[in-house]
Amino acid sequence: MRSEERVADRIIVPLDVPTQAQAIALVEQLPQVSFWKVGLELFVSTGPGILAELKARQKKIFLDLKLHDIPNTLAGACRAVARHGVDLVTIHATAGREALKAAQTAAQDGASEAGHPVPKLLAITLLTSLNSRSLAFDLKIPLELPEYALHMALLAQESGLAGAVCSPQEVEHLRQTCGHEFLLVCPGVRPTWAESGDQRRTLTPHAALQARANYLVIGRPITNAADPPAAFERICAELVGAG
Ligand code: C5P
Repeated sequence: MRSEERVADRIIVPLDVPTQAQAIALVEQLPQVSFWKVGLELFVSTGPGILAELKARQKKIFLDLKLHDIPNTLAGACRAVARHGVDLVTIHATAGREALKAAQTAAQDGASEAGHPVPKLLAITLLTSLNSRSLAFDLKIPLELPEYALHMALLAQESGLAGAVCSPQEVEHLRQTCGHEFLLVCPGVRPTWAESGDQRRTLTPHAALQARANYLVIGRPITNAADPPAAFERICAELVGAG
């Protein structure tokens, strides 16, 4: 059985706030959280200063910038990201094989130049805001959505990426195909006692770990709770023994 401390390390809490002061207030309110996600809104407002603040507090960082560009530009961005010593970074798999390989090599170079561990690059297979209809009619992609998500995850894996972000409903299927070493990180996770908000295809934290997700991204059930530390502890207690 997993200890509560170890399951706590598998929960990533997003800093979905617009300012550095609000982000730091949240980090200080939840000292038991070891892994934080910095997304586009916060990163664009604060710049890399927020990463330094988190590193100074010995926190792990998921930098969710969803990078997407030509190989040379993507490689430059990944080299720069790796110099900040972050742990996870997202890249769109649709950047293509050459760009994904260049990103991976550049991340290794940037990390070794700065003396940090190599960040794990995670593929975005398909934004969950897109559905089967937008895939078929707007993007003109003639594959079913699960087949397309799997195809993009395999492209990322073949290109040397460490893992992918996926919905908890997809995790079991991806795990079976991509094997146990491929990292799967799931947002869209909701405890039974929390509101689902705008997340549609959710699983509970326990079910998502049982489906063999490596990390769960859980935001509003913790950050909007009346007592955020208690909500985090409640989720950890529910996770002991899962996954
Ligand atoms: O509050 P909630 O638990 O829904 O937060 C989930 C976090 O994961 C948010 O930061 C959201 O932007 C992010 N995310 C997501 N779905 C994806 C990728 C990221 O909900 N496919």
